[in-house]
Amino acid sequence: MKFFIDTANIDEISKAAAMGVLDGVTTNPSLAAKESLPYRELLTEICRIVPGPVSAEVLATDYKGMLAEAEQLCKIADNIVIKIPTISEGLRATKALSDDGIPVNATLVFSAMQALLVAKAGAAYVSPFVGRLDDISTDGMQLIEDIITMYHQYDYRTEVLVASVRHPMHVQQAALMGADVVTMPFKVIDQLIKHPLTDIGLEKFLADYKKAGKN
Ligand code: E4P
Repeated sequence: MKFFIDTANIDEISKAAAMGVLDGVTTNPSLAAKESLPYRELLTEICRIVPGPVSAEVLATDYKGMLAEAEQLCKIADNIVIKIPTISEGLRATKALSDDGIPVNATLVFSAMQALLVAKAGAAYVSPFVGRLDDISTDGMQLIEDIITMYHQYDYRTEVLVASVRHPMHVQQAALMGADVVTMPFKVIDQLIKHPLTDIGLEKFLADYKKAGKN
């Protein structure tokens, strides 16, 4: 399973990249708005740090505007993936870009039917937002299971990218279900390695060695 980080923050991206398990990055306008660098400069720097797929979202909501923005974003680096919102105009743009060989990440997906449509349009990634579904008392991970089942039936190549991840259990469930990618905030990547018994065990190993006068 691939690990992407869901942030536009350069420090977090650098730290996650240094851990050696980072495969890509997803950004969105809300995340970019938190940073001081302009979006284009941010993306250039992110693509320099991470050689894997870096999702950059268009701001236009009409077909022509989306294609024009995508053209500019693609010039930033070879590893840019165009993030397109899953609306009618976005579906059209997804089809056109995918037909041209440009990878699209279909974002803001909340239903199995939206996921089916973007796969038919040729999206490289589908991003179902599990945390936001959980927030409204709907089982986000059930949607992931449904999409994986549906894609397998028809052999769609669109990769299932679990988004809006809130905690390590989302990541574990996604792995058990066979999702292709999970994108998560730095906090969640950091939580994955932590276990209190590991810390207690390490402390005891070191203390025992010291007690024996070996230091
Ligand atoms: C996905 O690519 C989005 O950037 C993201 O996962 C949204 O997550 P949020 O619901 O925590 O804002």
